[in-house]
Amino acid sequence: MQTKINQLIDEVQAFVAVDAQALEQFRIRFLGRKGIMNDLFEEFKTIANDQKKAMGQELNKLKTAIQEKLDAAKEVTTKSGDFAALDLTRPSGIALPGARHPLSIVRQEILDIFGRIGFTVADGPEVEDDWHVFSGLNFPPEHPARDMQDTFFIQKADQEKGWIEMLLRTHTSSVQVRQMNKQKPPIRIVMPGRVYRNEAISARAHCQFHQIEGLYIDEHVSFADMKQTLLYFTQAFFGKAEIRLRPSYFPFTEPSAELDVYWGLESEADHRITKGTGWLEILGCGMVDPAVLEAANIDPNKYAGFAFGMGIERIAMLRYQIDDLRMFFENDVRFLEQFRSAI
Ligand code: DAH
Repeated sequence: MQTKINQLIDEVQAFVAVDAQALEQFRIRFLGRKGIMNDLFEEFKTIANDQKKAMGQELNKLKTAIQEKLDAAKEVTTKSGDFAALDLTRPSGIALPGARHPLSIVRQEILDIFGRIGFTVADGPEVEDDWHVFSGLNFPPEHPARDMQDTFFIQKADQEKGWIEMLLRTHTSSVQVRQMNKQKPPIRIVMPGRVYRNEAISARAHCQFHQIEGLYIDEHVSFADMKQTLLYFTQAFFGKAEIRLRPSYFPFTEPSAELDVYWGLESEADHRITKGTGWLEILGCGMVDPAVLEAANIDPNKYAGFAFGMGIERIAMLRYQIDDLRMFFENDVRFLEQFRSAI
């Protein structure tokens, strides 16, 4: 009985009368002839004598709470029965301002930087076919990146063809292929988006994350243009002026490189994140392979281009010194609210 009464007191105190009718229903429910109070008094008769005193006091508390609610509400009821309770001058509850997600802050900043030098934003689908993710990007059929280990394959029902195999894009390079089919050179675009890989979740890896892809195709575009563009980006974003391009391999670029930025070795953290070298890898890049241009019906004898791709999480982790990737996806407000001032 005790817990029941306590629950009822809570309920009474939480009650808000939206209009006179709701208030009357409230009164009947608690104080009516067949109401809760009468039931409780019936029950009260049956309890042991030595409990009566304590329980009687509890019942009175409940009754007082009900009466107080009714009195308070009556006071603000106007003659017409409408509530004048709507006090527009009453201070509201505390409304905390929201904060943008760190990934969205970093993505926007990167897009803004490239926007200043003429890159526009484009996007494409997350559910893709083999052509846009692999074949159109010059991946040989037996390339390990197509392996089930890395790629999520899914089936899609097609009215004519039955089940067709699709996949979740493993990189935003797929958007390059779509855009090269859509636009004619000059093409100068950045393409942000979510990508998926079949990997176990850890502090360093996740089955879904975000990338920004870049593509510039025009007549006479050179490796030097790429280097200068990326230098401009690293200076604008990190404030770091020294970069190096290390030879690398991607099926869709030739030559290919990885861009490192000189981070420095001032603090202990610098040593840790650069593994004692002072250099940090930021992105992959290269000159668009002529085979990729050809597959998209762009004449490789007339046009050349460069492309690059970077992981937004990685860049955000460096910027904010976050050492666990999972933080981005857990939506813990204690983490997120720290970015309120970063907008
Ligand atoms: N798609 C590559 C990845 O996911 C990144 C990349 C490298 C994109 C070189 C590019 C590029 O456009 O030129 O690892």
